[in-house]
Amino acid sequence: MQHFKKALVAATFALAASFAAQAADPIKIGLVLPMTGPFAAYGKQIHNGVKLYLATQGDTFGGRKVELIVKDDAPGTAGDVSKRLAQELVVKDKVDILAGFGLTPSAFAVAPVATEAKKPMVVMNAATSAVTTKSNYLVRASMTLPQITAPIASWAAKNKIKKVFTLVADYGPGHDAEGQFKKTFTAAGGEIVGEVRAPVKNPDFAPFLQKIKDTKPDAVFIFLPPGAETIAFMKGFTERGLSAAGIRLIATGDLPDEDILDAIGDAALGLITSFHYSEAHKSAENKAYTEAYYKAYPKDRPNFMSIGGYDGMHLIAEVLKKTGGNADAEKFVEAAKGMKWTSPRGPVSIDPATRDIVQTIYIRKVERVGGKLQNVEFDQVNEFKDPGKQ
Ligand code: PHB
Repeated sequence: MQHFKKALVAATFALAASFAAQAADPIKIGLVLPMTGPFAAYGKQIHNGVKLYLATQGDTFGGRKVELIVKDDAPGTAGDVSKRLAQELVVKDKVDILAGFGLTPSAFAVAPVATEAKKPMVVMNAATSAVTTKSNYLVRASMTLPQITAPIASWAAKNKIKKVFTLVADYGPGHDAEGQFKKTFTAAGGEIVGEVRAPVKNPDFAPFLQKIKDTKPDAVFIFLPPGAETIAFMKGFTERGLSAAGIRLIATGDLPDEDILDAIGDAALGLITSFHYSEAHKSAENKAYTEAYYKAYPKDRPNFMSIGGYDGMHLIAEVLKKTGGNADAEKFVEAAKGMKWTSPRGPVSIDPATRDIVQTIYIRKVERVGGKLQNVEFDQVNEFKDPGKQ
C-alpha cells in the first residue's frame, strides 16, 4: 500500500511537471505570407498587424510565449509554393498554428495541410467565400468578398445607378465579387450591361476601358487585388475620359486601400466603396490602434490587412486563454466559435456555423481629411454574415 501511494504521488508529480513544461513551451505560430514580389505589401501589412498586437497586448498567450516563424510564399498566388512552406513549418519547425495567407490560392493550397496535420489555421486576409469550407480547422479573421460586395450593390441600386458594367480579377475573389454584385444588384432592379474578367497578373486595361466607355453604363463595379494594377486602372479610368463621360466607379474597399490610396491620389476623390475597415473609422479602439501603428511604422498607413493580422492574433490569444495554452485543433476551433470582441474596425464575432467573421460593413466615400485622402464612413450594415454561404 505504502509503495502504491508513493508511486501515485510520483506519477502525479511527473504529470504536473509535464503540464508545467508544456505550459512553459513557446507557442509556435507559422506565418505564410508574401513578403517579396508583387504582393509584398500584403505580407508587410499583415506582419505589421501581427507584431503590433504582440507589442501592445502582450506576447504570452495562455501562459505560453509566442514565437513567430515567417515563410515568404512569394508571389502569393502559387499554391504549390505555399503548400510546401506550410509542410515545412509543420514537419521541420513543429509549429502549433498556421496563420497568415495573403491571397486565396495560398489559403486553398494550405487548408489540406492543416487538416492532415491537425493544426489550427487562422486566415488573416484571403477572402474567397469558400476558403473556410476547405478545412474544419480553419477560422477566418479578415472578410469575404460576397460580404464586402453586397452592401455596395444595394447602395448602388438605391442611388439611381441602373446599369452597371462589372470588371473583376479572374480568380476566386473576383468571381465571388462578380457573382454577388450581380445577384444583389439585379434583385434590387438593376441591370448588368457587361462583364469582364481581367488576368490577375499584368492586365492591359486599355481595351476593357474602351469597351466600357462604348457601352455607356451608369457605373463600373470593380474588384482588383490592391497593387500596381489598381493604381494603373484608376489612372486609366480618368485618362481615357470615363469619368468625363459621366461613368461612375464603385468598388469594394480593396480599391482605395490606405496602402495605395496616396499613390492613386486625387483620382480616388469621391469614390464610394463598401468595406469592413477604414483608417478613418471613429472609435476609441481605432484611435488607439492607428496611433500605435504610426508610432511603430511611421512610413506606412494602417489598412485592412494590418487589421486582419492584428485581429487574427487577438483570436489566437483569446482562444489560448480559454484552453489554457492548448492549441489542439479541435479544441482551438471549438473555443473560437462564437467568440466576440471589439476590433479597431468595429464589433466582430466568429460565426459558429461557418468559422467566418461576422462584422459591420460600412459605406464610405474618399475625401480629403486634414490634407490626407481617407475613406470616410457614412452608412453601415451591422452584424453582416458572409452571404456567399447562404
Ligand atoms: C485574395 O486573394 O483572397 C484577396 C486578395 C486581396 C484582396 C482581397 C482578397 O484585397
